[in-house]
Amino acid sequence: MSASTPVLQIKGLTRHYGGVKALTDASFELLPGEHAAIVGDNGAGKSTFVRLLTGVEQPGAGEIHLDGRAVSFNSPLDAREHGMETVYQTLALAEDLDVPANIFLGREITRFNLGPLSVLNHGAMRRQSTDMLATTGVKIQDMSASLRGMSGGQRQCVAIARAAGFAKKLIILDEPTAALGVQETARVEEIIKGLKQRGVPLIIISHNLRQVFDLVDRIWVFRQGRIICNRRTADTTPQEIVGLITGAIDPASLSSHEGALC
Ligand SMILES: Nc1ncnc2c1ncn2[C@@H]1O[C@H](COP(=O)(O)OP(=O)(O)O)[C@@H](O)[C@H]1O
Ligand SMILES: [Mg+2]
Repeated sequence: MSASTPVLQIKGLTRHYGGVKALTDASFELLPGEHAAIVGDNGAGKSTFVRLLTGVEQPGAGEIHLDGRAVSFNSPLDAREHGMETVYQTLALAEDLDVPANIFLGREITRFNLGPLSVLNHGAMRRQSTDMLATTGVKIQDMSASLRGMSGGQRQCVAIARAAGFAKKLIILDEPTAALGVQETARVEEIIKGLKQRGVPLIIISHNLRQVFDLVDRIWVFRQGRIICNRRTADTTPQEIVGLITGAIDPASLSSHEGALC
């Protein structure tokens, strides 16, 4: 494996639901440390792509390679165990639990583990949670308060801190700021910039082109169940991306830059 081996490489990913071609022959790659955006109109196949990539559903055809090795995920847990953390649009957090319990949801640290007699190690989970939040710059006043009283932005920060803390290979964020206000969005964007500085590869699905142009290195355009094009952010404009999304611009008409697949 060389330094330029993609962290993630996808070839020919396909999933049809009866007659609906949700995704056809999608190829994609993410380089070490790269941040990429997935854009496209509703129904373009973005969520299907993420579900296939993260083991929520199985592809009809196609290959997924992580660090140059072919993988197939039977479940989201399987994908997590391979170092891939996903923050889905509908947050998988537990309202009535506190921050450490949420961060370690499904992978609790135990003192003893004798089946029904297992005892949780609350101190270790609290210490590690504090470290994970500090690494991402998230400030939570009271770690023992339940999530119920927290704003959407604080919850999203907890979810991203959790993903960042456990992700060994890459993080996928599905519309992380769609439900947030301006300041909360800014906070989440700061966390994403911090992940970029730390070299953590990331894929963000976003409808917010301002955000996409602020944050990512490369933009992948989905249209009608296909990945039609990718552009380096530095080589394109919001107008061009909108044209590609809507079909007003034919990707074949664009000059091909180094590494671009138009
Ligand atoms: N489980 C499903 N059963 C049938 N059709 C589906 C299913 N999931 C997605 N689709 C269809 O596949 C297409 C792509 O959907 P989706 O991946 O959700 O798009 P996006 O996330 O880009 O809005 C749409 O036409 C959608 O209706
Ligand atoms: Mg979707």
